[in-house]
Amino acid sequence: MFYDPDVKRSHGLPHDPFKALVAPRPIGWISTVDKQGNVNLAPYSFFNAVCYNPCIVMFAASGLADDPMKHSWRNAEETGEFVCNIVSEALKDPMNMTSAHVARGVDEFKLAGLTPEPSVKVKPPRVKEAPAHLECKYLKTVVFESEQKFQSHGVVFGHVVGIHIKDEVIVNGLVDVLKFRPVARLGYMDYTVVDSVFSMGRPDAKIPKAAE
Ligand SMILES: Cc1cc2nc3c(=O)[nH]c(=O)nc-3n(C[C@H](O)[C@H](O)[C@H](O)COP(=O)(O)O)c2cc1C
Repeated sequence: MFYDPDVKRSHGLPHDPFKALVAPRPIGWISTVDKQGNVNLAPYSFFNAVCYNPCIVMFAASGLADDPMKHSWRNAEETGEFVCNIVSEALKDPMNMTSAHVARGVDEFKLAGLTPEPSVKVKPPRVKEAPAHLECKYLKTVVFESEQKFQSHGVVFGHVVGIHIKDEVIVNGLVDVLKFRPVARLGYMDYTVVDSVFSMGRPDAKIPKAAE
């Protein structure tokens, strides 16, 4: 089949397949604080690392009719900081709970029974239970307008200024994802976990693995 995603429902399927194709998407569990110091936590699967020297990450917030800038986007811009907490399989349910649309200022750590742990270089706390955390300084937002009024998309970029990794997920000097089984988003209401790993060398064997 072929369809033009700008033409509404031209796929002819019961649900839009786009997000099921760009999958799995890692989940950035974004903690921020507002100007008053209120803590916020929410998951974003339009999330990724974009480069590593320096380390830059992004998450994209899609505005809602009653909240054109989601809290994470607004807080990151207003206070200049955010933390990406990495979601292990054990945290899938609390992660999901923190996606509830609640009033600004409601602390989703409390809502989901999570433990806030102070960060080293930024104000937003980290999810203590998470296997790793990326402390970020806000860089910029790129806004993509939507046909639907008030529903623009803000792609928020941050410079990673500090990285925490739990000792128990480092095995022989390498991060072993199988120790925490990262959760990722598929299409519809579906998720997956990383539960197997394989390795492949590069065709140009002159590139040492450690240099990447
Ligand atoms: C696994 C998962 C991934 C999500 N990814 C996104 C996303 O990439 N962009 C987005 O705008 N909302 C996403 N959401 C919905 C937000 O988490 C939800 O709107 C939340 O209330 C936003 O919180 P905030 O306003 O405190 O930032 C996702 C929800 C879940 C459960």
